[in-house]
Amino acid sequence: MNAVPDVPMERLPALLAAMPKAELHIHIEGSLEPELIFALAQRNGVALPYTDVEELRRAYAFTNLQSFLDIYYAGASVLLQPQDFYDMAWAYLQRAAADHVVRAEIFFDPQTHTARGVAMETVIDGLSRACRDARQLGVDAELILCFLRHLSEEEAFATLEQALPFRDRFIGVGLDSSELGHPPEKFTRVFDACRRHGLHLVAHAGEEGPPAYVWSALDVLKVERIDHGVQSTKDPALMKRLAQDGIPLTVCPLSNLKLCVFPQLEQHNLRELLDAGLVATVNSDDPAYFGGYMNANFLQTFAATGLDAHHAYRLARNSFEGSFAEPAARRRYVERLDAAFAAA
Ligand code: ADE
Ligand code: ZN
Repeated sequence: MNAVPDVPMERLPALLAAMPKAELHIHIEGSLEPELIFALAQRNGVALPYTDVEELRRAYAFTNLQSFLDIYYAGASVLLQPQDFYDMAWAYLQRAAADHVVRAEIFFDPQTHTARGVAMETVIDGLSRACRDARQLGVDAELILCFLRHLSEEEAFATLEQALPFRDRFIGVGLDSSELGHPPEKFTRVFDACRRHGLHLVAHAGEEGPPAYVWSALDVLKVERIDHGVQSTKDPALMKRLAQDGIPLTVCPLSNLKLCVFPQLEQHNLRELLDAGLVATVNSDDPAYFGGYMNANFLQTFAATGLDAHHAYRLARNSFEGSFAEPAARRRYVERLDAAFAAA
């Protein structure tokens, strides 16, 4: 689209909701709603340290990334059977389709499950069946396996080994969990091996951690996208590099708010990232824990920061151009985006 039409501010929320978009940063275990946690706990006979959904929800008062991760890993303990993983992913995919997500690249954390004795096959079987069935919903869904960075390089290698028999069911690998004290270079050799297997590479960097972690994710791990990356604005040379190389940043505004990366949404630096020419995108991260799926992230961030229709178009277009979809599919997504804006 050559010129994005001027859209009156009162029509912007409807356009944000209806425009086609890609979600590139969603941890499927972070889509597990309290109601489903309790239903799966009952189905599997797992005891939870909370009496009901309300008590669990009240525990979602986070002060930083680690305070969230402790509860997030506990919530995942109810997942045991392939059907549990299917049900979790299917619930997310239905929510995504309702938000006009047409492509989803979904993170999963196998080590959270294999450490409890759940087989890699169980995890990947349930998740990949849901992704396949998502075509009925109009969502193209793919999986990205994340290594937990608080665990060792050796454990990451063992996880890769366990996942390779299912190589055709995930498109890439990522790096998540506790960032501070676990720099990307801890996993240099694992990412080298993943690259040799033809996997796409991404990593969380610059969520709470310093710009140095973004540099090493790029230069040492050689990732194609940076997850979060919001700390990059502290380093002008890094901003220049991200802009010049067109490295997509998968930004998660409501996550940043809930984990106190920014004190208020009004202070979020999404506009600064876009103004600097970065390929920034909007994503939900862990929507069941952070109070909103894709459209809630768009609507609340635009309301708080005063972004307009030009930014909306740029963010949706970035989400397609930053995705790992085939070029022909990316072109089709952008055509649908253009049609949505032409009709606005
Ligand atoms: N795992 C799930 N959500 C995460 C986040 N926001 N940062 C790091 N690891 C995560
Ligand atoms: Zn994340």
